Amino acid sequence: MQLSQNHFGLFSAMHPLQCVLQVYRSLRWGPLASVSWLQLRTCRAHSSLTSTACPGPERQEGGVQKDFTSRLAAGPTFQHFLRSASAPQENLCPLEAEDPPPYVTVDELLGRQRKVYFETYGCQMNVNDTEIAWSILQKSGYLRTSNLQEADVILLVTCSIREKAEQTIWNRLHQLKALKTRRLRSRVPLRIGILGCMAERLKEEILNREKMVDLLAGPDAYRDLPRLLTVAESGQQAANVLLSLDETYADVMPVQTSPSATSAFVSIMRGCDNMCSYCIVPFTRGRERSRPVASILAEVRKLSEQGLKEVTLLGQNVNSFRDNSEVQFNNAVSTNLSRGFTTNYKTKQGGLRFAHLLDQVSRVDPEMRIRFTSPHPKDFPDEVLQLIHERDNICKQIHLPAQSGSSRVLEAMRRGYSREAYVELIHHIRESIPGVSLSSDFIAGFCGETEEDHLQTVSLLREVQYNIGFLFAYSMRQKTRAYHRLKDDVPEEVKLRRLEELINVFREEATKANKTSVGCTQLVLVEGLSKRSATDLCGRNDGNLKVIFPDAEMEDATNPGLRIRAQPGDYVLVKVRCPFGLLACIVK
Ligand code: 5AD
Ligand code: SF4
Repeated sequence: MQLSQNHFGLFSAMHPLQCVLQVYRSLRWGPLASVSWLQLRTCRAHSSLTSTACPGPERQEGGVQKDFTSRLAAGPTFQHFLRSASAPQENLCPLEAEDPPPYVTVDELLGRQRKVYFETYGCQMNVNDTEIAWSILQKSGYLRTSNLQEADVILLVTCSIREKAEQTIWNRLHQLKALKTRRLRSRVPLRIGILGCMAERLKEEILNREKMVDLLAGPDAYRDLPRLLTVAESGQQAANVLLSLDETYADVMPVQTSPSATSAFVSIMRGCDNMCSYCIVPFTRGRERSRPVASILAEVRKLSEQGLKEVTLLGQNVNSFRDNSEVQFNNAVSTNLSRGFTTNYKTKQGGLRFAHLLDQVSRVDPEMRIRFTSPHPKDFPDEVLQLIHERDNICKQIHLPAQSGSSRVLEAMRRGYSREAYVELIHHIRESIPGVSLSSDFIAGFCGETEEDHLQTVSLLREVQYNIGFLFAYSMRQKTRAYHRLKDDVPEEVKLRRLEELINVFREEATKANKTSVGCTQLVLVEGLSKRSATDLCGRNDGNLKVIFPDAEMEDATNPGLRIRAQPGDYVLVKVRCPFGLLACIVK
């Protein structure tokens, strides 16, 4: 798997000088107080997309293939569109619950052990989407390979958030072209698919620009992958980029990529209703919708049974979670927004909210650490903060994307808060959760940002002293409000210079903030060997900072007198001797 430098392209500088005190094999904290529309690219005369050249079938396997192609040309009927549009999503399994469309048989939807190679770009949501897509294809009889050369199908799970993210994919497609051309000469053709945000944003533009792309699947169309691949197998291009109002893949258990992992991500909601003026996400991932609490809890229980020690609840706005899946949930008491914050959308009512979910998830297994990402600052009512403070296994770590320190720019970004309201929230969080670790996202050089606005952001970085930062240069995206209404008027070199300044200030302040841990004993979840040295282990503290410490024998806290070496999944107590490294994601 390949991750581009985005949220997870971390720049780090660690000091392997921590001292290990004790290892905990078992830890006891204190009592726990739609596939509704599809787009087929066929060569038939009246196809809806006849303007695009279609490659002819590359592998005609005699009569069977011909028969399939003619059935495909007959295409789905209007009744089929209607039937699939009204099909309930709940508990759908790609092969069992729904009849195949009339132009393919159940047999033709099977992967027949063809090998799929995934490449994942972008944010953690995409890592999770890869696991969902793989889970669906695995059920259809596909195999997964980590060897590009032996793949029958290559699927790129893509990101659109900045132009650079998309450019990476175009470059990759050029590289894959050679591989595909070589395969054309062999008897086993290679199919290439674009999944996720870029498929959604560019739609058929991708198929027009890169004829070697065989299929497109938007973030809500992964259930349709077996059918799309069947169509692609016949030499036609296939696409499903329909966004759904209710798809959460609640019943698709993602396949964990690394079986030895100590932690897992659990998707709890998808999409975004915020419409910040710079952001493409509402257009690529659609409307906000939450997964039912019961299905989230079932997944967390399963992960706990598998021995995982950390779960990160995942979503574009995790703390805006609202489970409306049952009528009686709508009587639930509404929670307030953070003080001084507003929304760009009409106030929503009822539903089970994030505080309820967090409470329930944290009760599944008191030895399992709970994190969540990425939240929006508007949805931090007191009950969420209190819960984080009280519950031992909820990490005291909050990501609070500010984006800018200037109220004027925040308004242009349509963030729904002023600098003052944001700073007040920071104080309130620090009072409510002493010792909380804070991180944030910032954009340098947004439309109309003046030098004075930029200095306001610098001063916010100094005032808050974040522990972790994600810093980006603004990249104008088509379709967004900023694209239609504002001018991308900060010259590239000024954006980069301001970004550089933000990075330097962030580093200085984070160094100061992280120095306060020196001399403290912290609980660290062991992840494995340190990448830098075979004699060190690495893990993360409660604040999600990497800690490196010697791989030495230590006392087993649960079996006094017994000396053991820590393993991945163990908790160890580590005395911090020198400051943590600086963590920042920097995208220029
Ligand atoms: N340009 C630069 N950065 C962006 N982000 C979102 N959209 C853009 C854009 N158009 C950043 C924001 C967001 C993070 C995930 O990416 O800081 O919080
Ligand atoms: Fe990129 Fe945003 Fe899509 Fe994640 S949700 S892949 S960050 S565009």
